[in-house]
Order: sequence, then C-alpha cells, then structure tokens
Amino acid sequence: MTSIPHGTPGEPGPLRTLGLERLRRRTSMKWRTYPDDVLPLWVAEMDVPLAEPVVRAVTDALALGDTGYPAGTAYAEALAVFAAERWNWDGLAVERTAIVPDVMLGVVEMLKLVTGPGDPVVVNPPVYPPFFQFAERMDRRVVQAPLDAGLRIDLAGLEEAFQEAATGPGRAAYLLCSPHNPTGTVHTAAELTAVASLAERYGVRVVADEIHAPLVAPGVTFVPYLAVPGAARGLSLLSASKGWNLAGLKAALAVAGPEAAADLARLPEEVSHGPSHLGVIAHTAALRDGTAWLDALLAQLRDNRRLLTGLLAEHLPAIRAYPAEATCLAWLDCRALGLGDDPAQVFLDRGRVALSPGPPFGAGGAGHARLNLATSPAILTEGVRRMAASLR
Ligand SMILES: Cc1ncc(COP(=O)(O)O)c(C=O)c1O
Repeated sequence: MTSIPHGTPGEPGPLRTLGLERLRRRTSMKWRTYPDDVLPLWVAEMDVPLAEPVVRAVTDALALGDTGYPAGTAYAEALAVFAAERWNWDGLAVERTAIVPDVMLGVVEMLKLVTGPGDPVVVNPPVYPPFFQFAERMDRRVVQAPLDAGLRIDLAGLEEAFQEAATGPGRAAYLLCSPHNPTGTVHTAAELTAVASLAERYGVRVVADEIHAPLVAPGVTFVPYLAVPGAARGLSLLSASKGWNLAGLKAALAVAGPEAAADLARLPEEVSHGPSHLGVIAHTAALRDGTAWLDALLAQLRDNRRLLTGLLAEHLPAIRAYPAEATCLAWLDCRALGLGDDPAQVFLDRGRVALSPGPPFGAGGAGHARLNLATSPAILTEGVRRMAASLR
C-alpha cells in the first residue's frame, strides 16, 4: 500500500489547524443551527481551512472582478483528469457533461430527464435523507430497497424493488449513493456491475450520486458507476463539494454514459444558470491542484476513524461503529444503549453534542446516529466525552 503523506512536514494538516474559537465564528449551518454550548458533529461540513489552490483561485477571481457567468468546460476537464489519475477511469467524456448548481439539484434534474410524476425511484436506506425529500417533492414514489446486514447493497432486495418498480405504468429510476452516505460503504466493481445488469434487465435508469467519491480511505478503490460494464445508460453526479468543503460555492457536474448522452442533451438550458462562476472556479482548482491537500485530509480522516473506534471502545462500548471506507462520516448503531429511536436527541439534550438523527435516513435508521469525523482529534474526543456523559 502506498504511504499517504500527512501534509507538508511541520504543517499540522487540514484537520488539526482550526480551534473551536475560530470555528465558532463561522456562520454556516453546522455552526449556527445550535446554541454555542452545543458541540456540532452533524452536517457534512468539514472543520478545515480551504486548500490553498482554492483560496488562490477564488481570491484571484475576486481581485480581477471575474464574477460574471460561468463559461467553458474547465471543471469537466479537471474532473476527467482527476478521474483518470485517481480512479483509473478514462471514460469521462467532457462533451457528455453538464454543469448543475449542486448535486441534489442535479439529481432532481436527472430524475426529471428519465422519469415522470408518480414514477418510482428506488433508494437503499439507510440513506442521505434528502433522497426521500427531493424525490417526494417532485412527486416521485420512493421505493426502499434496504442495505443488507453488512450495510452493502442487497442485490436480491434490489431486484425485487426493480421488479416492482418496472411492473407499473411509468418509468423507473434507481438513485444510487456511491460511496454510501451514511455508512461509508464503497461499492465494489462486482456489485456495481450486478446493479447495471439488473437495471438493464428491468429497464430501470440509474442515477448515481458520487459526491463522496474523492473521500475514499487510503488503500481503498472507488469505482465510478459509469466505468462498469453495462452502465452506458447511467447518469452520475460528481462535485468537489464534499472532498474540499465547498458546499457554499455552488457547482457540480452531471455526467452521462455513452447511451445517456441524448437524455443529458435534453437538460433545459436554464439549469446551467444555477451554478456560480466562483463555484466553478473553486471546484476546478480543487480537482486540478488540490490533490496533495486531499491526501493529507484522507490520512487524517483515517486517523480520526481509528481514534473514534478507540474512544468508543473505552467510553461507550455498547455503540457499534460500522467500519466506513469512505466519506467523513461514522454511522453508529446505538440500539444497545436503549435510548429509543433517536439517540441523537438524547446526546443533544443531555450531552450538548449534535449528531445527525438516524430515523430520517429511512429503514434501518432507528436507534442510529451519524457522526461527522471531519474535525480535530481534540473536538472528536470532546464529542465522545459528551456522548458518554449524557448516559450518566
Ligand atoms: C450523498 C449526498 N448527496 C448530496 C449532498 C449534497 O450535495 P450538494 O450540496 O452538492 O447538493 C450530500 C451532502 O452531504 C450528500 O451526502
């Protein structure tokens, strides 16, 4: 296994740079949803300073007054190079991409291209709650095909869901989360190939949300859905947003497989008005020049995963943390604590630490909570201390 550097020698690395006092000056959702006595370890924002190439690109643009509308394909080109180098995938064709405002709005647009109102959308709970909210809001019918006990795609269950979805009058889609939020599961090439084959058999269109793809642990291989055999009719969504903490700088990419190019070409022109030019500049710089920063982050996330395992074993041995291979998240099975369906509420009320509640993640979410590891070891340690204190 290649060794991943912890950043430049002498530098603390992205997750060890910012203290609580500085973080509390942030005005984003993570820091402003709860009062100041609550330690926020919930929404997937990271406690990192931005990668230097991103700061430079955005400040250069501001200095130049380069704040008009986005143009060109630099973002897609940067992603194509990143995908080739990082995932060994050279099939990302820039002409089969489109910029979209962000990943979830991109998901909505892709679902509009391949399904109509009332049509089924299959998801794998427990899964990112907006998958339900956004699909329902656009009058799609959500069909749940839960992950199996090992938190992997249950191919038999997926086939049943596809079968059910395909028997109705409408067009069916499958919203794949890859890597999977909240479990951090990285789907294998074999699993994704089986998914593609089932999708073809039942005429289900696959829309893959691959926003967490850059956040894969050292030594683990991410496989883009469109890279597997049989996925040519798939559509995927990618972004630098999670990997480099750029959610506030709106821009994402929709990518079509070779046989979905005609669908993507039907994307209404006004969708391209949503992404921000500064967002496109920031995401492009991240993908093009931010890989050393990303590697340092990934090494520190791996350290934090190990730290969490140790802290839970010591202070909260009844909690089972699933061994995530990707994302900055930890999915915690708290059922043995006997705190009911929503343990995060107990940790919040009694321990003043905010995790994401499990129930909104759908089937399999009750009794669970999601913890965001993208913080300093000191804050993570304090978070677990507060969780443990809430049980006393
Ligand atoms: C799986 C998944 N998709 C989409 C998003 C949101 O992405 P965006 O802000 O680009 O819509 C998140 C955010 O955490 C996520 O985890």
